[in-house]
Amino acid sequence: MPIIAPSLLACDFANVQSECEMLNESQADWFHIDVMDGVFVPNISFGMPVIEAMKKHTQKTMDVHLMIVQPERYIEEFKAVGADILTVHYEASTHLHRSLQAIKAEGMKAGVALNPHTPVSLLEDTIQDIDLVCMMSVNPGFGGQKFIENTYKKVSELKEMIQKANAQTLIEIDGGVTSDNAKALVNAGADVLVAGSFVFKSDNPKQTIADLKAI
Ligand code: DX5
Ligand code: ZN
Repeated sequence: MPIIAPSLLACDFANVQSECEMLNESQADWFHIDVMDGVFVPNISFGMPVIEAMKKHTQKTMDVHLMIVQPERYIEEFKAVGADILTVHYEASTHLHRSLQAIKAEGMKAGVALNPHTPVSLLEDTIQDIDLVCMMSVNPGFGGQKFIENTYKKVSELKEMIQKANAQTLIEIDGGVTSDNAKALVNAGADVLVAGSFVFKSDNPKQTIADLKAI
């Protein structure tokens, strides 16, 4: 069964508390939190105070995805507001290895996100140090985009790399996940499914989460 991580980017921000409570009652495993800075991606989402508010209303794992330049500047701050997993973009990290060690030193799991154009092979020398690879299946910056089909091939390649290295790295798929592609993604090797609009724009988000979980 995949880990289901609904993306709060698609929630009703005027009712964050009730959205968190809905997720608490659902079969969601993690909260996926998208932080955008308007520089690394052409959109601005939210930052520490909002994450802190969400943290107050859940005990579930906070999976924080940083779409920001120089993410190493804020590792301690994200820990302080409740991040359990902290993911930085490969494309935004000049000293990726150092950032991964710094995240772990704060007691968090360390993730690396890959844009759709970034080859999986670039992680060969760090895979042992990565707890989670967030494989972008859309160009980061916005919810509600169409899933990029080339993702399946990248997931298979990554799975093979992880197995060869005997690593414990989880593969997370982020962007355009629906019931149409969830099963094929899990079959290709995905461990974690992020879903934003598919969950929050559905008539019955709890049921949608349960359906993804049971896939
Ligand atoms: C995109 C974000 C995703 C996004 C997914 O930049 O990283 O987490 O919220 O949203 P959907 O599921 O709507 O594509
Ligand atoms: Zn994300």
